[in-house]
Amino acid sequence: MSKRRRVITIHLPHREPAVPAVLTFALVLLGVIGGLSSYVPDWNVKEPATPSIQAPNEQLASRALNERVESLLGKMTLEEKIGQLTQYSAGTMTGPGTARNDYNDLIAGGQVGSLFNVVGARLTNRFQRIAVEKGPHHIPLLFGYDVIHGERTIFPVPLALASSFDPALVQQVSHVAATEAADDGIRWVFSPMVDIARDARWGRITEGAGEDTYLGSAMARAYVQGYQGNDLGRPDSVAACVKHFAAYGAPNAGREYNTVDMSELTLRQVYLPPYHAAIKAGAATVMSAFNPLNGVPATADPFTLTTILRNEWNFSGMVVSDFGAIKELIAHGVASTGAVAARKALTAGVDMDMMSDLYRTTLADLVNSGELPQSVVDEATRRVLRVKFALGLFDHPYVDESHTPYVATPEKRALARAAAEETLVLLKNDAKPIPFAGNVLPIAKSTPTIALIGPLADSQVDMLGSWSAAGDPGDAVTLLNALQDRCNWAGTKLLYARGTEILTDSDEGFADAVVAAKKADVVILALGESAPKMTGESSSLTRLDLPGNQEDLLETITNLGKPTVLVLFDGRPLAIKWAAAHVPAILEAWYPGIEAGPAVADILFGDVNPSGKLPATFPRAVGQEPLFYNQLPTGRPADDIDLSHPPTGADKYFSRYIDETNAPLFPFGFGLSYTTFNYSNLKLSQTSISSTALSQPTQGHFLSANRIEVTAEVKNTGPVAGTEVAQLYIRNTGGSVEEPVRELKGFQRVTLAPGETKQIEFTLGFDDLSYYNLEMTRVIEPTQYQVWVGGSSLATQETEFEVTGE
Ligand code: BGC
Repeated sequence: MSKRRRVITIHLPHREPAVPAVLTFALVLLGVIGGLSSYVPDWNVKEPATPSIQAPNEQLASRALNERVESLLGKMTLEEKIGQLTQYSAGTMTGPGTARNDYNDLIAGGQVGSLFNVVGARLTNRFQRIAVEKGPHHIPLLFGYDVIHGERTIFPVPLALASSFDPALVQQVSHVAATEAADDGIRWVFSPMVDIARDARWGRITEGAGEDTYLGSAMARAYVQGYQGNDLGRPDSVAACVKHFAAYGAPNAGREYNTVDMSELTLRQVYLPPYHAAIKAGAATVMSAFNPLNGVPATADPFTLTTILRNEWNFSGMVVSDFGAIKELIAHGVASTGAVAARKALTAGVDMDMMSDLYRTTLADLVNSGELPQSVVDEATRRVLRVKFALGLFDHPYVDESHTPYVATPEKRALARAAAEETLVLLKNDAKPIPFAGNVLPIAKSTPTIALIGPLADSQVDMLGSWSAAGDPGDAVTLLNALQDRCNWAGTKLLYARGTEILTDSDEGFADAVVAAKKADVVILALGESAPKMTGESSSLTRLDLPGNQEDLLETITNLGKPTVLVLFDGRPLAIKWAAAHVPAILEAWYPGIEAGPAVADILFGDVNPSGKLPATFPRAVGQEPLFYNQLPTGRPADDIDLSHPPTGADKYFSRYIDETNAPLFPFGFGLSYTTFNYSNLKLSQTSISSTALSQPTQGHFLSANRIEVTAEVKNTGPVAGTEVAQLYIRNTGGSVEEPVRELKGFQRVTLAPGETKQIEFTLGFDDLSYYNLEMTRVIEPTQYQVWVGGSSLATQETEFEVTGE
């Protein structure tokens, strides 16, 4: 933590002096002045200054907007300013509440800046009228809501959306979510959650893009662009809220709200980039996290909230606390009273108090007693007002109440179905057991009898996943509904048996399930987790196997020897070791949203070829967690050791388990198709490049001399058309710090007809190849890079290049 600079300053964004660059400059100057004969190369080439960093969101930085802000600010009393920093939930609670629901008087008195969990044009307008008509300066309220993967039309959960490796899709679904939210009076969504999650025990892994920084950053950008478009002021734009800042996804032992402790190197290299990507895409707001980070609660951490967010990233939007998190500073032991908690949070950089009710009740006294400079309150108010002005709320505070009530129209269903189809991941598809012929999937349309078994086969509420906003479980089509339709039409007999409940010990239903399976030609088992009870916030687990007695049911049915497919509906990678060894076909469906049933059926019957890839590693055993592909190297790698049995001698002293192999059950980036793909001809534009060339500004146009172009060919070698997610990985060796054994640095969805070959291209420039050194500066050093291209993190097509020191 040598460079962890704790500053408690509140000021308009500026860039901190780049110490290493100054040092470098001084060294070069010394060299010149001293007339050194030999040239001293500058290994640590610093990230080039990029003009757009000055204003990641130009609207928020605009002079006209800020003039309006200043003019209003000048008229406000201290209490009114503090009111703008106060937020209450007027609906569902995810933490202790304020025990009040009479917000009318507070709003009329200008003591509330934002409400959340108030949904619908009529309801939001009702509160808005009080603020605008009775409030001291007619300042509109900002209504927020947890729109995480759809507002009324519920799409696949974010972890599923990440499996599509399709940012354009994510942008499209978030735009639909924005439009629906705006129709409901919501102009602020508490999304995207971009916390990197490397531990499947953590229930909120379902809300993000999984374990990878590059994929997570691409998804972060896509959500922000979908929500905000290019103009926050459009009536169908909503302000995004990037959360949870910072590193909330790395709690010790996967336990919710637990401590996060990591090196600054890992923080900057792995965890911060997705937040930064969202900020660079223009995200207007940020939510601070519940967790402490390296000894300081994120809600009161000036290092992340001011040094990084404001000074390094020039963020000029507003930061809201998480639910009741300011009050929790007392439990963290860093504040003895509510007033201390409020002062610490505000000075660290939390502008708005979500549900602690401490800003409203303590800040005025703190200012009046001289314990808190008024300028700190002014600056936070400015940031809140900026967002309100940018959204156009002052000019258009109300929403049209005459909108026709929400209906999941065929167009919305079509998008939800297409999205779900891209997110399903085929994990296994073996030959049918003897005496049957062919692979288990796709299921032949002429199959006479199908048995559908399991507690997730007909559960609408589970199909929506956690945080389903204003979605109606009644809109969800289950797998049973969808199969029934297909089977009626195809003349197939469908036998349905629930078999068991998600969480029970009773095996009462097993007998019916066995009877159904015995009569069937194909058996589909729909098993997994309860979305509301076991996934999302506050849903950490110590076991990752199938919950309840579903494993027993799975084994009982699979052992009947029928062609069996396991469809998993869950919010996290599960440890399904037995299934991976014994069930011939496995489809990871996550929670696919309202079109769950039709999308899964399309894949099962081969109308759609699966193309999803895993955004998070599947472990063999929970004890491997946290398990992720981009690990740092060890001095005793077990790569060449047979790990299938406990050590017998010299094979012991390696980085290994003695009771399990190191390998995942299914690796990051993995997913099968009904066709096969072959990679060949991996080539680089150059095998040597200088660090100087690579470090040219990355804004605008690249010169090809300043980057490495990677090309390869992908061929569809199977019998049907399919879409492959081609992935590019690198490894860097020889530098001043350890770099991961592999890192994703590019991906592309490629659709190929049978027999067709396409060339794919990737570019590796400064942003992809640079990394943080021990001075926390992004550098390119003279090192070697290995490059792989293929269909998963185990890609085998390999080549390499070097970066030279000139
Ligand atoms: C969650 C946030 C959420 C907030 C408001 C908290 O408990 O951590 O992600 O946005 O509640 O509902």
